[in-house]
Amino acid sequence: MALRVVIEFFNGPVLGIESSCDETSAAVVVGREVRSNVVASQIAMHAAWGGVVPEAAARAHVEAILPVIAAALEGAEVRREEIRAIAVSNRPGLVGALSVGVTAAKTLATALQLPLLGVHHIEGHLSSLLAAPLAPDYPLAVLVVSGGHTELVLMEEPLRYRMLGGTRDDAAGEALDKSARLLGLEYPGGRALEELARGGDARRYTLPRALGSATYEMSFSGLKTAVLRTVEREGASLGRADLAASCQAAVVDVLIGRMERALDEFVVGGIGVVGGVAANGALRSGLATLAARRGVQFLAPEASLCTDNAGMIGLVGSLRLARGERSNMDLETLASAELPGLVE
Ligand code: KG4
Ligand code: ZN
Repeated sequence: MALRVVIEFFNGPVLGIESSCDETSAAVVVGREVRSNVVASQIAMHAAWGGVVPEAAARAHVEAILPVIAAALEGAEVRREEIRAIAVSNRPGLVGALSVGVTAAKTLATALQLPLLGVHHIEGHLSSLLAAPLAPDYPLAVLVVSGGHTELVLMEEPLRYRMLGGTRDDAAGEALDKSARLLGLEYPGGRALEELARGGDARRYTLPRALGSATYEMSFSGLKTAVLRTVEREGASLGRADLAASCQAAVVDVLIGRMERALDEFVVGGIGVVGGVAANGALRSGLATLAARRGVQFLAPEASLCTDNAGMIGLVGSLRLARGERSNMDLETLASAELPGLVE
């Protein structure tokens, strides 16, 4: 049976900080409300290399972190002294990048004598759903789809997760980015690929949907190879928009197929999608149609909460700090880490 769960949030403004990859971000979150969410993106810098360069990312975070925090406070019209706690993503991610946010968070927590909480980045993406206008009915089946992650998670209630499956190789966003590159689009090509796909025919090129839908596991590494072969085979007669549309459809079909499987197996109150790829219109509308057909809620955060941002980190802080959870000043940064709150 679907349940409307009463959720307690931390009392007072939480400063969220995010620097796990190529966005430096700070946000002020009060309860479930994201009052400000400032993002300084390094995408333009990394685009020249065709991907994220870790050392360059860390250096850019150092330059951006203090102005971004100042802008988040100003945007929320909150003074530094009014902040009641600090939540920072400390795992998983590029350790050099993460350590910039974590060092800033520790310094501020010490200076202002505030509680500190280290947050799992993926739990941040999952919690971005809490800011949606619709109050979720649990359990929720949620796709986490970004440049680094592709997982299907059953949220039994906030902060309690069951991992249903994930990708064995490339993340969905990574597959789109690599295919976009083969189509001559700039890194990270997901959004540009979606735009190009708008004028295209998704049935023109047949691309693989690996593993079939009898499993929650996914595999996207064969897609870029198939895209490359198509580009080479078609040469000058390549229909770029058609290939973009075919490629987007291949990724969206796999993701929706796994969600359908979850709806067959579990009784849920709603389905959701989070992470950078959740900004994709074809994926959103496919999932919305599926939800309507099955009579469950469809939840997706607004675009600014889909790609990496500190608002979602502040939301986890708001939930976990309310339960009395705290980190100490030994808080580490980790390249990989299991989601907290996992149940079998
Ligand atoms: O969550 P995110 O900002 O960073 C990671 O944690 O990875 O996700 C970035 C990913 C990139 O692969 C990007 O191409 C993809 O999200 N993305 C999109 C769209 N907007 C961003 N993919 C498809 N359609 C979009 N509109
Ligand atoms: Zn992310």
